Amino acid sequence: MSELDLSALREEYARDGLDETDLAADPVAMFDRWMSEAHEAIRHDANAMVVSTVAADGTPSSRMVLLKGVSDAGFVFFTNTGSRKGVELAGNPRCALLFPWHLLERQVRVEGVATPLPRAEVEAYFSSRPRGSQLGAAASHQSRVVAGRAELDAAYADAEARYPDAVPVPDEWGGYVVRPEVVEFWQGRTSRLHDRLVYRRTADGWVTERLAP
Ligand SMILES: Cc1cc2nc3c(=O)[nH]c(=O)nc-3n(C[C@H](O)[C@H](O)[C@H](O)COP(=O)(O)O)c2cc1C
Repeated sequence: MSELDLSALREEYARDGLDETDLAADPVAMFDRWMSEAHEAIRHDANAMVVSTVAADGTPSSRMVLLKGVSDAGFVFFTNTGSRKGVELAGNPRCALLFPWHLLERQVRVEGVATPLPRAEVEAYFSSRPRGSQLGAAASHQSRVVAGRAELDAAYADAEARYPDAVPVPDEWGGYVVRPEVVEFWQGRTSRLHDRLVYRRTADGWVTERLAP
C-alpha cells in the first residue's frame, strides 16, 4: 500500500491552449516549435522520448531514448541494434514515440516506421560522443544478462586497454530514423477538455483533425 494518496493527486491544466490556427503546415515544423519551447522550459533531457516497440509474439515494450535529430525524413535516435528494441525493430519496424512534457502540460505522440540509419551517419554521431560513452558502448552488449557490476567494469577496462586512441564504432551500434505517419499534439486544458490535434499522412499530404479528449 502506497503511503501517498495517489487518488488525491490532481492538477488543473491552464497554461495554454492549442487551436487549429496555431498549427504549422506540417508536423515536423510544429514539433520543432514545441521541442524548442520544451528545451527552454525544461532543459534537462527535454529531448528524452519513450520509444515503444512490439515483439514477434505481440508483446509491447517501452523505454526512454534521446532524440538526436528531426527533419522531414523523421525522428532520429541512436542505440545498440542488438538490444531488445533493435531486435524488435528488425522484426517489426512499426513503433511509437512519446514526448512527456509535463511541465508544459503537453505531450506529443508519434506513430511511424523505423529505418536503420546509413553507417556514415552512425559513425559521424559516434565520433562526436565523449570517449567514456564510446568505451561504454564498446563494453556493453545492451539488453543481455550480465553476471554482475564487476563484469561490466572489467569489459570497460578491457575496452580502454584495447583502444588507447580512437574507439571504433562497435558493430552493434546504430541508429534509426522514424518516419512519422501520425503525430498528435496534446495540450492540457481546464476541466479535462484538453486540446488534441492530429496530423495524418495521406497520399495527398498531411491532413489534420481534432480528437475528443
Ligand atoms: C533519459 C534517458 C535517455 C536514454 N537514452 C538512450 C539512448 O539514446 N539510446 C539508448 O540506447 N538507450 C538510452 N537510454 C536507456 C534505455 O532506456 C534502455 O535502458 C536501453 O536502451 C535498453 O533498452 P532495451 O533493452 O529495451 O533495448 C536512456 C534512458 C534514459 C532514462
